[in-house]
Amino acid sequence: MIIEPDQVPPARLQQYLQHAVAPRPVCFASTINRAGQVNLSPFSFFNLFSSNPPILVFSPSRRVRDNTTKHTLENVIEVPEVVINIVDYPMLHQMSLASCEYPREINEFTKAGFTEEKSSMVKPPMVRESKIKLECRVNEVKPLGEGGGAGNLVIAEVLKMHIDDSVLDQEGMIDQRKLDLVARLGANWYCRANASNIFEVEKPNIKLGIGIDAIPASIRNSEILTGNNLGQLGNVHDMPLVNNQYQSDRLKQIIQYYSINPQEMEKELHRYAKELLDEGKVDDAWQVLLANN
Ligand SMILES: Cc1cc2nc3c(=O)[nH]c(=O)nc-3n(C[C@H](O)[C@H](O)[C@H](O)COP(=O)(O)O)c2cc1C
Repeated sequence: MIIEPDQVPPARLQQYLQHAVAPRPVCFASTINRAGQVNLSPFSFFNLFSSNPPILVFSPSRRVRDNTTKHTLENVIEVPEVVINIVDYPMLHQMSLASCEYPREINEFTKAGFTEEKSSMVKPPMVRESKIKLECRVNEVKPLGEGGGAGNLVIAEVLKMHIDDSVLDQEGMIDQRKLDLVARLGANWYCRANASNIFEVEKPNIKLGIGIDAIPASIRNSEILTGNNLGQLGNVHDMPLVNNQYQSDRLKQIIQYYSINPQEMEKELHRYAKELLDEGKVDDAWQVLLANN
């Protein structure tokens, strides 16, 4: 299926985009208007765009259905300040409730049952229940269009970050496993990132990986190894050499058993290497793959 944006009704296009560009973190934005009335609303068109200066951007869009603007947008134009509260799983349903389109004079802190906590650098209050809060100055609001669905980039500079001690490790850094973050996908879908489902991928930041093109063709063209497996193999800094000290009973058995059938031996070695790679044992996998090269 091919989508040409101008051939699809805006509401449908929005669905395609929101399902595809996901998961998106949730900016729970606290703002005030000129009269001092408080607003609290979630926005998933949101991300971190710079750390020096520290810049967050989110986008309260014009409504697709009637092209009206959101209170949050009107507020940051009137008072260019925002507190961005990070949303974790324990806050999920209250956050969702705060997205109801209450009249401007209604404070969603009250409606959704959150507690206002005084900020130190800006006028909008923080959400006490949030584990991480970012007090921000709004540097710029950039409209991206005039029709329904047009975004408005709110470019916010972080003035102060508040982090609950409970999510810190011993070095005073955030322990990703302790933050039970949620993110928005398409339609009503959300996902959750906590110790049960997050994982690490080592990245060689300074040294270059040899690249998949440098992997011997018999391995690179394997019917058994996947793109992920080749990515792991291509991520080593130097082409591995055969290590005669490498010990593995299974490797010995494969070589003995399949000595009369080199094609089957190669497949069996690739199967074994794949298992090792799936366990993150890249050096061992290389030794297995090099055994008959
Ligand atoms: C998780 C979540 C993410 C949302 N993301 C956006 C968004 O990125 N942009 C947007 O315009 N509306 C978004 N909404 C809808 C707004 O929160 C909703 O329109 C809200 O009523 C706006 O409030 P306001 O008019 O008080 O600013 C989102 C809603 C939820 C629940």
